[in-house]
Amino acid sequence: MKAIEIRNKYLNYFKKQGHQIIPSAPLIPEDDPSVLFTTAGMQPLVPYLLGQKHPEGTRLADYQKCVRTNDIDEVGDNRHLTYFEMLGNWSLGDYFKEESIKMSFEFLTKELEIPIEKLSVTCFEGDKDCPKDTISAEIWKRVGIPENRIYFYGKEDNWWIAGEEGPCGPDTEMFYDTGKEPCCSTCQPSCDCGKYVEIWNNVFMEYFKDKKEYTKLDKKNVDTGLGLERMTMLLQGKETPFDTEIFKPVMEKLETLQKLDSIESRRIVAEHLRSSMMIIADGGRPGNLDRGYILRRLIRRMIRHLNKLQIDLEQLADLIEINIQNLKEMYPELEKNKENIKNVLLEEKDKFVKTLTHGEREFEKEIKKIQETKESKIPGEVVFRLYDTYGFPPEVTKELAQENGYEVELKEFKELFKKHQEKSREGSMQKFKGGLAEQTQETICYHTATHLLNAALKQVIGKDAHQKGSNITVDRMRFDFNCDHKLTPEEKQQIENLVNQWIQEGLEVTKQEMKKEEAIATGAECMFIEKYPDIVTVYSIGNISKELCGGPHVKNTKELGTFKIKKEESSSSGIRRIKAILLKEEN
Ligand code: ALA
Repeated sequence: MKAIEIRNKYLNYFKKQGHQIIPSAPLIPEDDPSVLFTTAGMQPLVPYLLGQKHPEGTRLADYQKCVRTNDIDEVGDNRHLTYFEMLGNWSLGDYFKEESIKMSFEFLTKELEIPIEKLSVTCFEGDKDCPKDTISAEIWKRVGIPENRIYFYGKEDNWWIAGEEGPCGPDTEMFYDTGKEPCCSTCQPSCDCGKYVEIWNNVFMEYFKDKKEYTKLDKKNVDTGLGLERMTMLLQGKETPFDTEIFKPVMEKLETLQKLDSIESRRIVAEHLRSSMMIIADGGRPGNLDRGYILRRLIRRMIRHLNKLQIDLEQLADLIEINIQNLKEMYPELEKNKENIKNVLLEEKDKFVKTLTHGEREFEKEIKKIQETKESKIPGEVVFRLYDTYGFPPEVTKELAQENGYEVELKEFKELFKKHQEKSREGSMQKFKGGLAEQTQETICYHTATHLLNAALKQVIGKDAHQKGSNITVDRMRFDFNCDHKLTPEEKQQIENLVNQWIQEGLEVTKQEMKKEEAIATGAECMFIEKYPDIVTVYSIGNISKELCGGPHVKNTKELGTFKIKKEESSSSGIRRIKAILLKEEN
């Protein structure tokens, strides 16, 4: 079965079980700079898991595009991916353990026709915060999983939470037995040997963790996640996701192009190419910070490995095209954004080629210095700096060093690298947590201001000026829109005046739920129509602005203060960017 067939079967099955199918949220959370990427199907649903009413009801299912880059350096082995698709079904205070387990079991054994003998499950063993989950174990027994294939583990295995705080709970996980020989007499699902592969995780989210304390949520929810690439690989009896149709065309092309053979490098190229294309299709751009930096790292790592395979970088355009043709049925956005994807990747490639040259020059300078000190090893600190600043992989530094008759101090490099990794992990966790909790009064005000600015642009520039992106922090807003010229000082002044006039008028901000078609028919503004569910929330500000949007917003524009444009510049071709602030009167 192909990946897309598994996805369709899944969505159809859950539709039949009364679930509304909601669209995948973008990989880059909209209007939320504090979260790097969407990392799980539950992430866009956090407000609903915490109790907000979802317009589509209490049973939802979707496929969600996800990026997780904590293990970026592991990609190249037979299982790690930075981009993956998560199939998920949710109960928002609707069904709980019994129905959830029964549905999972039925889907696996009837729809996917996995023999029961291949399935093992794990449940939470209980601790001071939450009792042993004998209920789930009993249900598993009743549906037909023998007792000796039901395992109990602690929080490290059978508890799920995104980050440190938030909705959470015990989970029950399903494992597929690949049929490999057991690695030892106690081989079991928690073992890392590869005999058992986790295929589905059902989280019974009835708790909320705040710093250290667990409290019960008002409602008992279910959050599930099934990794599509992994399931595809198992059902096709393949050893790795790279052997499935998802990666096959690119992998084969790389094999014909390579002059030096490396399966690891081919996997890295294929994986990072897909991942970066998906991120770019959802509006990502390479840069030096946060999301942009991760995208840059993915692209650079891909290019280094193309070099390693001794593949001419001119082939990149072809590889992109092959991926688009292969994946466009699953992700039509790839074809829609084809030109953009190509431009961004090829531009970044050119930049990196220059960087590599700079890195080599820097390396030569370092070598000269070391020759003077008569050391025989290149210090780890230098290896790390070349890596961090010039994207120079330690293997390359080592190779270059050896050519010059030197060794490199890899132990020190590894220590520095580990420290750096821990820091960036902490950073991304912080960001993830922040994103869930940090809707401050400031960001809410800026959010409402983007709607006013959007409306003002239509009056000053023309009705075809639309939002193309935005980014909000507690102390400023950034807003991208299409426009074919640099704004004149007069235009900027008019925009500022209009926004401030609307703020002073004290316009009411109101919210309404309606069908997507109706919302569009009323002329509501909307950035990515296909990304919204069938029932949408529309925010209106007086009668000057109407937009499809998830909120939240202020109640009245007079809360905003004074709007001031700080900068207007080009963002990319045909797209202008405004940076603006809201000044509040001190009292
Ligand atoms: N949120 C759960 C996970 O990511 C389902 O595994």
